[in-house]
Amino acid sequence: MNDSQRRDVHYKPLSPPPARLKKSKTLNIIGISAGYHDAACCLIRDGVLISAAQEERFSRVKNDKSLPRRALRYCLEDGAIAIGDIDCIAYYENPTLKLGRQIWMGMQPNISDRRIDMIAGRMMSPTPQATIRSSFGYDGPIEIFEHHASHAASSFYLSGFEEAAILTVDGVGDWATTTYGFGKNAQIERFEQVDFPHSLGFFYSAITAYLGFEVNEGEYKVMGLAPYGKPLYANKLRSLIDVWPEGQYRLNMDYFAFLTQETMFSEKLCELMDHPARVPESQLDQFHMDVAKSAQLVLEQVLLEKVSYLHSRVPSENLCMAGGVALNVVANSRCLREGPFKRLFVQPAAGDAGGAVGAAAMAYVQIAGKRLEKNPLQHVYLGPRNLPSDIERLLNASNAAFLNFSGKESELIQYAIDRVQEGKVIAWSQGRMEFGPRSLGARSILADPRDPEMRDRINALVKMREAFRPFAPVVLESQAHKHFDLDHPSPFMLETCTVISDLALPAITHVDGSARVQTVNHSTNRRLSLLLEEFDRRTGCPILLNTSLNMRGDPIACTLYDVLMCFVQSQIDILVVEDFVIERAGIPTLWSLEALKYQAAKAKPGESISHSIYTLL
Ligand SMILES: [Fe+2]
Repeated sequence: MNDSQRRDVHYKPLSPPPARLKKSKTLNIIGISAGYHDAACCLIRDGVLISAAQEERFSRVKNDKSLPRRALRYCLEDGAIAIGDIDCIAYYENPTLKLGRQIWMGMQPNISDRRIDMIAGRMMSPTPQATIRSSFGYDGPIEIFEHHASHAASSFYLSGFEEAAILTVDGVGDWATTTYGFGKNAQIERFEQVDFPHSLGFFYSAITAYLGFEVNEGEYKVMGLAPYGKPLYANKLRSLIDVWPEGQYRLNMDYFAFLTQETMFSEKLCELMDHPARVPESQLDQFHMDVAKSAQLVLEQVLLEKVSYLHSRVPSENLCMAGGVALNVVANSRCLREGPFKRLFVQPAAGDAGGAVGAAAMAYVQIAGKRLEKNPLQHVYLGPRNLPSDIERLLNASNAAFLNFSGKESELIQYAIDRVQEGKVIAWSQGRMEFGPRSLGARSILADPRDPEMRDRINALVKMREAFRPFAPVVLESQAHKHFDLDHPSPFMLETCTVISDLALPAITHVDGSARVQTVNHSTNRRLSLLLEEFDRRTGCPILLNTSLNMRGDPIACTLYDVLMCFVQSQIDILVVEDFVIERAGIPTLWSLEALKYQAAKAKPGESISHSIYTLL
C-alpha cells in the first residue's frame, strides 16, 4: 500500500464533483467550520444531526484547519447524497468581520514585521462562498453566521432546554471573545459581548505558553497540572485581568504580546512572576504547578463572576456553554456546583469544530422555522464506522492471526474482560467515531482502573504523555453515583467530580481526588455498557479506564487503517475492532513494515497551526 492509497483507503477523491442528482424531498444542510483551527463538517437532515467529523481525523494533521474536503466527502457518503442534494451550506463565522479585525491588528503601533507577515499570510478572503463553490462544485445557497452565534447555537439548539442562558467563551471569533445571551424555543439573542483582544481564552493560552506547553493543545495540560500546585500566584495573575461590571473585563495588555509579536505573553509577565518562561519539555517544578493552579483558579473566579452576572440578566435554571474555554471541565464543574444555574449543557465539541453544527442548526431554524429534532443531543457517535466485511477481508488478505467473534457478542465480552482482569490494555474500536475532542468508547484504550501501575503502563505502551496527566473513567450510568459525587448523567466527559468510591481507583483518580467522568448506558453505547456490566459482575467495579486511541501528537484514530497503525506502533496488548480480536503475536510483518511508512509520512507538527501562538489570525 503506498502513501496515496493510504490517505484514501476509504475516501475517493472529491473532484470532479458528483453529478447533480434529482433533488430529494429531504432538507439537507451542511455545516462547515474552517480556516482557523479544528475544521469540521456536519450534515443535518430534516432537523436531525446525522453526521459530523473533524478534518484532522481524515487528513491525520492534528487540528487541521483546512477546508474540510474529506469530512464533507464523509458526510455526503454517510447521507448517501451528492453535492446537488445539499439545500444549504452554513459557514460558521463572518469573514468580513474577521477581516476587519485582521486589518485592525495590522495597524497596531509597534507591531513586528513578522507579525504583519503572519497576519498577511493568514488573512482570509471575505468571500468563503467563492472558495466553497469552487472547491466543492456547489452552486446552492450559502449562509454565513457569526463565530460566537455558531457557538451559542451549537449548544442551545442541542441542549434540550426550552429556554436557557447562553455563555460563549473562546480565544477569539470574528471580533467577540465572550458573549452573553439567552435562548427560547427557536430564538437566540445576544445582549452583550467582550471584544478582542480582551479574552479569557488568551489569558489561559498565554499562561499555557509561559509554562512551556503548546498553545491550542497544552491548555488541557495546565488544567491537569493545576491540582499539584498551590494558588500562590493567583493575586498576581488576577492583576492581568481587570474585571469590569456586568459582563465586561479587560486584559492588561502590558503582559500580553499576541497583538504585536509572535508570542502570547510579554517579558513583563516574566518580571511579574520573577521567573523566566519554562523551556518546552524541560523539567516541571513546583513553581510551574503553582502557576498552573493560580491560572486555573483565576479563570474559575472570573467565570463564576460572569456566570452570576449572566444569571442576574437571565434568571433561568439552565445554562448553555460553548467555545474553547468551555472545554475546561474543572471550571465547568465549578460553575455548575457553585454558580446560580441548576443545569448545565456544554456542547461536546465546544471548540470551533462544533461551530459547524451551530451554523447548520441556525440555517435549519431559518429554513424550517423550528429547532432541531432529537433534542437534546444523545450521543456524538457521528463519524465513520469500519465495516466488519472490510475488516475481515483485510485481516485475511494480510495473513493476520485473529479471532472472529461475529455473532458471538457475549463471548467477545467475556474474552475482553478476561484480558482486562489479566492486566492487559485493550485498543477498542467500535461503531461510529466520536465527534469532538474526547474518545467516548468508540476509538478508545480501555484498562483496569484499579491497577496502581496502569497509568504508568499505558504511558509506556502508547500515550508517552506527561505522568501528571490523569486518565479518565467510563462508568455505567446506573452505578455512577456510588463511585462519584455525581447526581446526573455525564455522557460527554465534560465535568469533573470527586471520587467517592469504596474501591481504590488509582489509575483514574487525580491527585486532588477528582475524576473526569463519562457515563454510559445501553441506549448510547450498548457494547461498552455490556463490557462494564461484565466487569462489574466479576469484580464489583462498573468502571474502566478510558483514554483516546492515538499515538502522542496524532489525531484520534478514525479508519481501520489508522486503528491498525496505532495498534502496531504502540505496545497495546490487544486490539478489539468490531467483532475481531488481534493480539500482538498475530500482527503480520506486512503491518509492521507499513507502520514504518506511516510514521515516516506523518504530518510534521506545525503544518496546520502554530504551536507558539494561538492561531487567532
Ligand atoms: Fe471559537
